[in-house]
Amino acid sequence: MRLPNIKFAYSTHKGSAYCGDSRELLQNLPDNSVNLFFTSPPFALQRQKEYGNKEQHEYVDWLAEFATIVYQKLQDDGSFVVDLGGAYQKGVPVRSLYNYRVPIHFCDRIGFFLAEDFYWYNPSKLPSPIEWVNKRKMRAKDAVNTVWWFSKTEFPKADVTKVLTPYSDRMKKLLADPNKFYTPKSRPSGHDIGKAFAKDNGGAIPSNLLQISHTESNSQYLHGCRVVGVKQHPARFPAKLPEFFIRFLTEPGDTVVDIFAGSNTTGQVAEAENRQWLAFEQQPEYLAASAFRFLSKQHTPLEMEEIYHLICAGESVNLLAYSKE
Ligand SMILES: C[S@@+](CC[C@H](N)C(=O)[O-])C[C@H]1O[C@@H](n2cnc3c(N)ncnc32)[C@H](O)[C@@H]1O
Repeated sequence: MRLPNIKFAYSTHKGSAYCGDSRELLQNLPDNSVNLFFTSPPFALQRQKEYGNKEQHEYVDWLAEFATIVYQKLQDDGSFVVDLGGAYQKGVPVRSLYNYRVPIHFCDRIGFFLAEDFYWYNPSKLPSPIEWVNKRKMRAKDAVNTVWWFSKTEFPKADVTKVLTPYSDRMKKLLADPNKFYTPKSRPSGHDIGKAFAKDNGGAIPSNLLQISHTESNSQYLHGCRVVGVKQHPARFPAKLPEFFIRFLTEPGDTVVDIFAGSNTTGQVAEAENRQWLAFEQQPEYLAASAFRFLSKQHTPLEMEEIYHLICAGESVNLLAYSKE
């Protein structure tokens, strides 16, 4: 997928990546054309990250500038999923409310619906902030991000059977021998627990608490960064996060866009899931390194360096020209 009349940074079978401010790049998309925007913006952190986070007080208005255009570009049954980390207020062990103000603003002012609130629990997250958690031991470690699923209408396209999770051991025993294991009866809540519960649907309905560890040590992306000698993106999310929402909210052939693409985890998952994708990122070095995600072990260090430097220099690179298939 490519945007007409605008220069891409790199392209693959299914998608292309563009360097620039998303507020401008988004204007090149037709209205009502995107099935899913999946993204993780820079958070409103107290400690500034290297890619320029906004201060908390101006954050919601800033993010709303993007969301207003996203709303226009989204199909009526499309979704906009935003991963936002929590933050503390400056100098005190008191939480900022910024990530809760975002859904209120988006729904009250822009017209989105909050289809569901998700929580990404990362068990491998390191304790922070150091002052309140590690040193003074007065707060627990913060290991959950809010992931807001917005929709343009009340009934966005969604199929939870595409993201079933493995059954628990207890459920597996029940499925193996429902009569022995289970006596159908009414619960105090009035719910009738009948034999229908013993039907094998291929997996359990997932909850809105997504437990995904952030461990990535062996990927083609990290390999490319090491080989070319460039820094890895400091705030990547794990592939399992976009994978869940891409499978849940889109079908093969649909269009997925990440407007704060960073190392383009979303594009890589969309490609693997046979969706069309677009990635927008304002830092050329991040975008150039993200091309490593679409290369393989067969690519030589020289090829990786060439691709990286061409993209940084503003050239358009068709990665299919480097294909080893
Ligand atoms: C939290 S990171 C995204 C990381 C990404 N999810 C990944 O897995 O690599 C946010 C990114 O948004 C980019 N960004 C910030 N403002 C932008 C803008 N106006 N237009 C496009 N990208 C922007 C930053 O450079 C940064 O790389």
